[in-house]
Amino acid sequence: MDKLIIEGGRRLTGRVKVSGSKNAALSILVATLLVKGKTKLYNLPRIGDVWTMLEMLNKLGVKVKLEEDFAEIDANEIESYEAPYELVKKMRASFNVLGSILVRCGRARVPLPGGCDIGTRPVDFHLKGLQAMGAEIRMEHGYIEAYADKLRGADIYLDFPSVGATCHLATAASLAEGTTYIRNAAEEPEIHDLFNFLNQAGADIKYIDSRVIEIKGVEKLRETSYEIMPDRMEAGTFMIAAAATEGDVLIEGIDPVYLKPVIEKLRETGCEVLEMENAVRVIGKRPIKPVNIVTLPHPGFPTDMQQPFTALLMIADGTSMVTETIYDSRFKYLSELARMGADVKVEGRTAVIKGVKELTGAPVVISDLRAGAALVIAALMARGVSEITGLENLDRGYENLEGKLASLGASIKRVAEESRECLV
Ligand code: EPZ
Repeated sequence: MDKLIIEGGRRLTGRVKVSGSKNAALSILVATLLVKGKTKLYNLPRIGDVWTMLEMLNKLGVKVKLEEDFAEIDANEIESYEAPYELVKKMRASFNVLGSILVRCGRARVPLPGGCDIGTRPVDFHLKGLQAMGAEIRMEHGYIEAYADKLRGADIYLDFPSVGATCHLATAASLAEGTTYIRNAAEEPEIHDLFNFLNQAGADIKYIDSRVIEIKGVEKLRETSYEIMPDRMEAGTFMIAAAATEGDVLIEGIDPVYLKPVIEKLRETGCEVLEMENAVRVIGKRPIKPVNIVTLPHPGFPTDMQQPFTALLMIADGTSMVTETIYDSRFKYLSELARMGADVKVEGRTAVIKGVKELTGAPVVISDLRAGAALVIAALMARGVSEITGLENLDRGYENLEGKLASLGASIKRVAEESRECLV
């Protein structure tokens, strides 16, 4: 296994281009199962989670061809209605193939995803929604068995605006008989990207009100080519890294409108943030002012930016409070930051961060994707050298992170875990 060696204290300067969105790509790849034919996807990020989803599609009989700048997904034939446990265990998002397999095959068998490092994460909204559309659902031996000759339109209310349930149910409803409404639905930009893809393929999906989606079922979807939106979480990570290193970075290929909460909170810390047509520039300042953050569904502050932003607040000039409302245990990484000298304690769903003068480099382990971003940012800020392991979690969602950071002047290197190599 590899590790990252980072020597902190370097200012990040220059420009960096954002890759395609992981979360939009995953839900669009699931939706390609509904196209009896070929789909060409451009700007598909080359990351671990995308490889896992392509492997899942392949196991279902879909033919995948990876070209230089696009992937061709041929779902003309679906040969299996069963999703392999080892892939769903590896990545929860692959559970969402359930609805699409059910629509294509009239039955589906998909393992129930377990919990993960950031929270319990049940899928009850997904199952309730499919049942409302007429699916017969059984749970046996850790698998969900679903049956339906043809899904029919339904009026579905979500207890919480779940991103996954919104994508899963809207995708399945696009080929249902009649019209479906999803109320209290999620509105994340990645969902709009999914709907743009489905509508381009012939579906009829739109938001008719805030958090209300109308899906008029159609007979079939047609072959199409689609360019996936940029990854706003990757962009946000670079923005925070620029602030954390008192740097000056231009993040290209992202519309600032997708990052308003992160931009506002960075400005509150005293950073200068310049918004441009398809780019954002962050100029870090000192001291960093403490801020309070509450994570919320979009358009609130995104939970996926909670961990990277909290890392920045470790060296703020005062006390900050960060409240996580989406997941019930997304503070595990704080014990690793404490190893770097952070002064933080958790009370219920709130982390109370007393800013310290500096962090110091240390060996730390990544427990989940965004925890990885937080530890990399902390290491870039810290005095001395950090050794970061658990990179498989980071590689799931960041394309060539160390290459991009090195191009901005970071002292960062990926080496084999057993290597005694160091940076100097
Ligand atoms: C998506 O996860 C993203 N993943 C997550 O990003 C992101 O954190 C999350 O949305 C919230 O923005 C992908 O898009 C692949 P949810 P998802 O359903 O769909 C509860 C990253 O770092 N819930 O909106 O799984 C659930 O437990 C990842 O890129 C139910 O109770 O999130 C959670 O507390 C991490 N029952 C809350 O809703 C359900 O049936 C939000 O979950 C479904 C969800």
